[in-house]
Amino acid sequence: MYAIELSNLTKVYRKTRRRLFRVVGGTALTAVDRISLRIAPGEFIGLLGPNGAGKSTAIKMMTGILHPTSGSVRVHGLDPHRRRVEVARHIGTVFGQRTQLWWDLPLRDSFAILRAMYRVSPDDYRVRLDELEAALQLSSFWDTPVRQLSLGQRMRGELAGALLHRPPVLFLDEPTIGLDVTAKTSVRAFLAALNKTHGTTVILTTHDMSDVEQLCPRIVVIDQGQTIFDGGAGNLALRVGLPSMLVASYRHRSGAMRPGDWTVDDAGHTVKVSFDRGRTSPVEVLGGLQEIGSLEDFSMTEPGLDAVITRLYAGDARR
Ligand SMILES: Nc1ncnc2c1ncn2[C@@H]1O[C@H](COP(=O)(O)OP(=O)(O)O)[C@@H](O)[C@H]1O
Ligand SMILES: [Mg+2]
Repeated sequence: MYAIELSNLTKVYRKTRRRLFRVVGGTALTAVDRISLRIAPGEFIGLLGPNGAGKSTAIKMMTGILHPTSGSVRVHGLDPHRRRVEVARHIGTVFGQRTQLWWDLPLRDSFAILRAMYRVSPDDYRVRLDELEAALQLSSFWDTPVRQLSLGQRMRGELAGALLHRPPVLFLDEPTIGLDVTAKTSVRAFLAALNKTHGTTVILTTHDMSDVEQLCPRIVVIDQGQTIFDGGAGNLALRVGLPSMLVASYRHRSGAMRPGDWTVDDAGHTVKVSFDRGRTSPVEVLGGLQEIGSLEDFSMTEPGLDAVITRLYAGDARR
């Protein structure tokens, strides 16, 4: 069974205009437009897309907060809107923009409430809390009201709170927004370990491409409510067609790089060749570089995910 299965998932937001209590018109906005997606248990998915693409709306339907206009969502085989209580036991959610904890309460009290809500037995609670404490170090701010926590502390608290009932699926909507580098690093390490040791399925939206590069073997890009890419970061770079680059340095040079499906930046001792890996093999480029002298060293650079995504959103690679 899939952890998550979306079939033609669609959400239309409607705004009606009324005059004297009568509907006289309105507008409709299709925020999610026939998305189909299958996610196996244990996958770590980066859900990407420009602002307004429909990511949060899709996550709200997967978590049962919103009902689809058409199409369907299944989480471990269950309809999250109709079987909200059961699905809640299968999922944890963290929304970077708003807290799931109680603002005026310390974690100690928030977690006691969550423990009761999810009916976690005292023994299980102790084991899980120990594990979460070891990974997230909550004890130093255990008795501080959430409103007084730093953003990084709060996020550690949110993650622990979302995982107390040990859900097999975790949804994270912009969890690293506003965190400093140190906090981001510890959140990332925690998520990687969670996915690895417990096989937790994770669906992550973020604007931070380092999060995605380090965590997500599979990337789903949505734009204007539709899936425009589903695959690995390497394939995305190929699709977008940003150049890879081979840089060679020489002991001796004897000629110039032959013409080909590439661009050459020849500075004598070093030669840089940019090419599209979707069309040209690095082996062919290296062959050309070897013909023109005796190599001292060479290296290959791939375009960063940041550059790839920027180019994709800019529109020249959309299909
Ligand atoms: N409650 C709502 N009512 C009407 N329109 C909404 C609502 N929530 C989001 N939208 C619109 O739906 C589109 C998708 O929004 P959202 O799912 O928040 O995108 P993302 O999370 O990718 O930035 C946007 O055009 C947004 O303005
Ligand atoms: Mg959003």
